[in-house]
Amino acid sequence: MREVTHVADVRAWRASLAGTVGLVPTMGYLHAGHVSLVQRARRDNDHVAVSLFVNPTQFGPGEDLSRYPRDLDRDRAQLEQAGCDLLFVPGVADMYPAGPGTLVDTGEVSRPLEGERRPGHFQGVATVVLKLLNIVQPQRAYFGQKDAQQLGVIRTMVRDLDVPVEIVGCPTVREADGLALSSRNSYLDPDDRRAAPVLHRALTAARRLWEQGERRGEALRETMRRVLADEPRARVDYVSVADPLTFRELDAMDGPALLSLAVFVGRARLIDNLALPPAG
Ligand code: PAJ
Repeated sequence: MREVTHVADVRAWRASLAGTVGLVPTMGYLHAGHVSLVQRARRDNDHVAVSLFVNPTQFGPGEDLSRYPRDLDRDRAQLEQAGCDLLFVPGVADMYPAGPGTLVDTGEVSRPLEGERRPGHFQGVATVVLKLLNIVQPQRAYFGQKDAQQLGVIRTMVRDLDVPVEIVGCPTVREADGLALSSRNSYLDPDDRRAAPVLHRALTAARRLWEQGERRGEALRETMRRVLADEPRARVDYVSVADPLTFRELDAMDGPALLSLAVFVGRARLIDNLALPPAG
């Protein structure tokens, strides 16, 4: 595995290659969810690039940018093992040499849910992802369904700006108790960790109701709130039953839907979601 810091080194690597390239953008502190994306990229492509950049422009004031977890040695070892060819670890000055400038705004899709709670977040995400796509110029780029609205924002950007790349969405990797893997799970103390699977329990309770034929969005939201209320360590930010393409709340569910939630557990703000009908 080659490791580079500067944009010019990525471009030189890219120019030297024949065949297809798959890109997996990350913020590091890698876990089995990230690794599943790299493995998928490895299967689909001749070459695999992973970017590791804690992108400051997608963090709001008062968020966890300064304490975001980092362990580059462990990340390297996992990427070697998963078959990554190029690790791109730029500094902030490599990515934003001219300071803040052009921003990508994907419009309506980035307004509800995470966009409403984290103003500017998706502009930061879309901008850095477009830059990474332009730097690496992959045939395919891989993103987790764990961040369903982020995936929707990136698909929207690629469609609207005619970016020549295939966006591949990958399933959420979970712990045995249902907790979705996340770098931010490292913020959980042991009691918080025991409480955190309540997110998945709330989602699966709502899914069960849907399987029994319930189609009122509010009934599913109420079920999620009820499950979460039973866990004193959980503080709800939002629960949502939304259109999976626009992320707007649904009253009546007459087609596919996305169940999603954001919940504070201890120092961590955790998000998770399930698609209805279930994928695959
Ligand atoms: P990060 O949180 O490091 O996540 C990198 C990729 O891993 C994202 O596509 C995310 O959806 C995916 N991922 C995270 N947890 C997962 C899980 N449990 N199962 C499957 N995939 C999972 O998301 C970002 O970084 C950034 O916003 C980024 C896209 C890199 C732009 O800065």
